[in-house]
Amino acid sequence: MTDIFNHEYFDDFEREHPNIFASKLALLKIAITLDGTRDIGYTVSVGAGTGSYEAALREEGLEVQRIVEPSANLAAESRRRGFNVTKALIQNVAFEDESIDTVFYNGSAFGFIDETTLKTVFRQHYQQLKPTGVLALLDVPPASALGLAVQASFALTGENYVTDVLSQSWYAADTPRKTYWRTAEQYRALLEEAGFSSFAAWQTLRKHLSYHNDAPEQAVEGYQEGSYVALVARK
Ligand SMILES: C[S@@+](CC[C@H](N)C(=O)[O-])C[C@H]1O[C@@H](n2cnc3c(N)ncnc32)[C@H](O)[C@@H]1O
Repeated sequence: MTDIFNHEYFDDFEREHPNIFASKLALLKIAITLDGTRDIGYTVSVGAGTGSYEAALREEGLEVQRIVEPSANLAAESRRRGFNVTKALIQNVAFEDESIDTVFYNGSAFGFIDETTLKTVFRQHYQQLKPTGVLALLDVPPASALGLAVQASFALTGENYVTDVLSQSWYAADTPRKTYWRTAEQYRALLEEAGFSSFAAWQTLRKHLSYHNDAPEQAVEGYQEGSYVALVARK
């Protein structure tokens, strides 16, 4: 697989947008701890990129045991941060049944996976999770303000207002694009098909894009407003 990611895409963005990073990190914490009601236990992060969120979680006492990341550039950066990284696509990685407490995808790695493969991957996660284990999917929903602006920017060239506003809340224009833009309802249907029946959702980045980085935002329940949403399924 050609490596389409550079760690600079993420490092530069996070340095320049510390409050967006903080809001997304707070959402991730709420998702994997079910709002502070569980220990995360043996935890796998899928598509961790540079491992920056996982390093921030570690500073708060939440340890990720394993990272699965296919990009050589990003996997190297995660390893440099001290994580146990398997450089692979999640669909090619086997785990023992009932061996994991928490699987999370922060930043939409599932949006790079076609539906047939994703059905298999979710079914495998259901088997790999211990009873009451948690699968958390964090994503920019297609109909959210940020989702619409990102998708609109694909069709726009030259100077324009959408791209200008988008640059206040999104990565560099040449950061690789998520291939599949699915709604919360579509993910829920895929998760139900995989065996999950207990669900929760939290959201953040609910302001206009130009205010996302002004201050860290507190996540709230639901998925219909935020430009960054955590869909959580419990086994
Ligand atoms: C938008 S980046 C998010 C990176 C990081 N988690 C963050 O939130 O900043 C999506 C990540 O998913 C990874 N990815 C893409 N397809 C994947 C797959 N099939 N299995 C695991 N990771 C995948 C990419 O290499 C990339 O690191």
